[in-house]
Amino acid sequence: MKVAVVGATGLVGSEMLTVLAERDFPITELIPVASERSKGKEIEFKGKKYKVVTPAEAIALKPDVALFSAGGGTSTEYAPLFANAGITVIDNSSAWRMDPSKKLIVPEVNGDILTATDKIIANPNCSTIQMVVVLKPLHDKYKIKRVVVSTYQSVTGTGVKAVQQLNDERAGIEGEKAYPYQIDMNVIPHIDVFQENGYTKEEMKMIKETNKIMQDDSIKVTATTVRIPVVGGHSESVNIEFENEFEVDELRRVIAAQDGVLIVDNPANLEYPMPRDAHGKDEVFVGRIRRDESQPKTVNLWIVADNLRKGAATNAVQVAELLAKKNLIG
Ligand code: A2P
Repeated sequence: MKVAVVGATGLVGSEMLTVLAERDFPITELIPVASERSKGKEIEFKGKKYKVVTPAEAIALKPDVALFSAGGGTSTEYAPLFANAGITVIDNSSAWRMDPSKKLIVPEVNGDILTATDKIIANPNCSTIQMVVVLKPLHDKYKIKRVVVSTYQSVTGTGVKAVQQLNDERAGIEGEKAYPYQIDMNVIPHIDVFQENGYTKEEMKMIKETNKIMQDDSIKVTATTVRIPVVGGHSESVNIEFENEFEVDELRRVIAAQDGVLIVDNPANLEYPMPRDAHGKDEVFVGRIRRDESQPKTVNLWIVADNLRKGAATNAVQVAELLAKKNLIG
């Protein structure tokens, strides 16, 4: 298969290349794509060098599938042009996620709804992906009424500039700022832009995308999303109220049985998920599993994943793998 990676010079794009190589995705030809600025730059993939091309040049090279992570503007402009040329697009930006004619896919949750007519498939928001992977089997078993989530998000979610800001601040260098405030030694309760209702766009993504992916608008979700000075991954404190009663031991087994999820939960040995440990891994890690003693039928979880991996690159590659397996590409 001919595979284009649009945004190949970016943080998520380069992680996509790593994941494609690691998982041995059946690539006959790689087409790395970035802006005019990067044209001609060489990218190494599985020991071979490939020259970066622009999106327009990539369409002419007729890849079978294109993984996009080059920002919403690039996706809005180019994804339809790729799709019209018969190229299946898996888009990591937020451009198409809430479009009713586009599917928003986490393979373990709703991969079964993909069909051959899906030419632009949206990859959800990083914080949403790691949460819904865990919510899905719990919803099937106990029916979720309401979710209250607070996030602790890595600077890698903002891109190269944000990682540079953190490194500059640590080194005492005055540099370009990705955030309105210092991020090192700080916590910023503000991700993406503020909306009229007082929530940020990141918070509204977690709410709306969860309902869409779970295919159930009756699940109530409220979110507070927060940036912290960490690079390894996103962490989330998630409080879930169910319709039905549960036993903690059984609930653990339900979570453990979910594909791609690992439980790390042994307080006696000080074992719980942390972004340092999740970094570079494809799994979603769950710990601190305990009953909420303030309210019936409610549980508290701590969920951690590498936001560049399962939160972005790995999920996109898994969608491509699923499409290939179902013969839905081309
Ligand atoms: P470039 O390196 O040429 O600017 P990040 O979010 O980590 O900063 O990465 C953004 C990615 O999106 C980069 O690979 C960047 O390429 C790419 N990109 C930005 N604008 C465009 C564009 N107009 N067309 C194609 N790729 C783009």
